[in-house]
Amino acid sequence: MKFLVTGGCGFIGSNFIRYLLDTRNKDKIVNLDALTYAGNPNNLKDLKEDERYKFIKGNICNKELVKHIVEEEKPDVIVNFAAESHNDRAEKNSFIFLKTNILGTQNLLHACKDKNIRFHHISTCEVYGDLELDSKDMFEEGYKYNPKTLYNSSKAGADHVIRAYYHTFKLPVTISICCNNYGPYQYPEKIIPLFATNAMENKKLPLFKSSQNKREWIHVLDHCKAILLIIEKGIIGQTYNVGTGIEKSIENITDSILKVLEKPKSLKKYVPDRLSHDKRYLLNNSKMKKLGWKPLIDFDEGLKETINWYEKNKDWWKPLKEEK
Ligand SMILES: NC(=O)c1ccc[n+]([C@@H]2O[C@H](COP(=O)([O-])OP(=O)(O)OC[C@H]3O[C@@H](n4cnc5c(N)ncnc54)[C@H](O)[C@@H]3O)[C@@H](O)[C@H]2O)c1
Repeated sequence: MKFLVTGGCGFIGSNFIRYLLDTRNKDKIVNLDALTYAGNPNNLKDLKEDERYKFIKGNICNKELVKHIVEEEKPDVIVNFAAESHNDRAEKNSFIFLKTNILGTQNLLHACKDKNIRFHHISTCEVYGDLELDSKDMFEEGYKYNPKTLYNSSKAGADHVIRAYYHTFKLPVTISICCNNYGPYQYPEKIIPLFATNAMENKKLPLFKSSQNKREWIHVLDHCKAILLIIEKGIIGQTYNVGTGIEKSIENITDSILKVLEKPKSLKKYVPDRLSHDKRYLLNNSKMKKLGWKPLIDFDEGLKETINWYEKNKDWWKPLKEEK
């Protein structure tokens, strides 16, 4: 099978490419990535010599380029990870979010349309809006969309456009909706790598004031396995929630990081919340379980391994933090 992966130099995309190449000998991968601040070619530098892998620097919003790549490379499937993905940045400049996340996705769908190429898209639990901290509710597939931030609304917009391509043109699409990922190669602006690397440097850990707000956590490798399973066995036109049920508050996560690194709680510093700040998300994952998937990585183990990875790979994250 030939994959066109977009955004493959980012956190989840690079882990997905590595997982594919590690587990499937015959697959070929073309990685189209614009190398924004979040795209790091060093994430996959060891694959330079691998003839199953090819990198193309380019933007998913570039109509001619995407059309050309689809014609030349003839992928069997496009897996779309490319996105602007950080809520804080969306408060400062939302235009690029709507452009990449909605119009870029449409551009890929448009290129798939004539050739009826299989399309899989990576979405986020944040499209559903948020839950009260004490709610007994969970988000099921089909739960109404109620995004509250500009990042979330751009992801929600893309999901609607994808479904419209399915209903209008019968394009073979699937969508996975995932909770918060952690693992190696995550850009050090996201909470786990930011707090772990700050603690290693004895810098303050800036917790949002609503530190009891919860997130649901998944190790990136469990997410990558779910994506591949949906591509192979998912029903065309369907959406799948990829969640673990493992919820941790921001305060919990911070304390766990400090404990693993044996650093004092005095490194915690409370800062104002985002302008629009979701309280909690929780996905019902029973549809994925029926498909034959379950998360395998224990949170405490996964977190410890992840922190160890950042400790051993200071050359990877130090330059990124200096650039910020
Ligand atoms: N990280 C999470 O916890 C999480 C959870 C659920 C869903 N998601 C979704 O998964 C996907 C990947 O997330 P991530 O955390 O790996 O993001 P990331 O920010 O680490 O990586 C995004 C990648 O996309 C590339 N990119 C951005 N704009 C592009 C464009 N216009 N054309 C081509 N490439 C472009 C960047 O260079 C980068 O390599 C995103 O769609 C995100 O919304 C992420």
